[in-house]
Amino acid sequence: MARFDGKVVLISGGARGQGAVEARMLVAEGARVVLGDVLEAEGERLAAELGPNARFFRQDVTVEDDWARLVSAAEAMGGLHGLVNNAGIYVPRPLMETDAELFERHTRVNQLGCFLGMKAAAPAMERSGGGSIVNISSTAGLRGSPGAIAYSATKWALRGMTKSAAVDLAPRGIRVNSVHPGPIDTAMIHIRSDAEIAERLAQVPMRRMGTAEEVARLVLFLLSDESAYMTGAELAIDGGASL
Ligand SMILES: NC(=O)c1ccc[n+]([C@@H]2O[C@H](COP(=O)([O-])OP(=O)(O)OC[C@H]3O[C@@H](n4cnc5c(N)ncnc54)[C@H](O)[C@@H]3O)[C@@H](O)[C@H]2O)c1
Repeated sequence: MARFDGKVVLISGGARGQGAVEARMLVAEGARVVLGDVLEAEGERLAAELGPNARFFRQDVTVEDDWARLVSAAEAMGGLHGLVNNAGIYVPRPLMETDAELFERHTRVNQLGCFLGMKAAAPAMERSGGGSIVNISSTAGLRGSPGAIAYSATKWALRGMTKSAAVDLAPRGIRVNSVHPGPIDTAMIHIRSDAEIAERLAQVPMRRMGTAEEVARLVLFLLSDESAYMTGAELAIDGGASL
């Protein structure tokens, strides 16, 4: 029996990057996945590739009704056992170049989106006999992040929200943990120039980017019963970048 047989997992921002790799691995291990994203073409393509065990919906994580739609779809597929709050934006600017609009945009997608996701998922998870929520933060939520104050603020917030939600949701049989990736080779990091990425990697003890597969393996561990006694934990996966 595969690790995720009979389980349904919802992934926000699941059309590409780390979320898409998690979806592929989950389906390969027996799960059904519900994917949300603002990128419709990519999301539809991925769902078609994954077959009947995957459904894609256009979802903006800042919209409460979109969350309700995805949670209903999950329950129609057999319940809701896992949620990966993975959607995020990264528009790096230093403090003096960050205006209120940019700051609030990060807060809405990265932070409010995660809050709405946990709130929407919890009752369905409880009805399904419990579940696991994984919030994708960053090393930017563990230390000061150069030139990305708005992003960093939201990733620190996710770390605290994870611990508060872990306390609130433990009586409902729901675990909540945060994952803190360092530089990972997806589209998001390539908003930086090659020179900026090289400069960043010089600060990483392992001197390389991580892959989406490496992060996905950790996320699947946290979604699975292998981590049954873990909640409120923060796990760095960063080649030592946060040391
Ligand atoms: N790549 C890295 O170096 C890195 C490092 C640390 C943390 N992270 C985090 O990992 C997560 C996944 O990022 P990724 O590396 O796969 O990059 P990515 O840009 O490929 O994935 C992010 C996804 O979120 C989606 N998204 C953005 N706004 C949305 C919204 N309002 N509603 C729904 N979906 C939305 C995007 O369309 C995209 O598909 C993010 O939370 C990111 O902050 C990434």
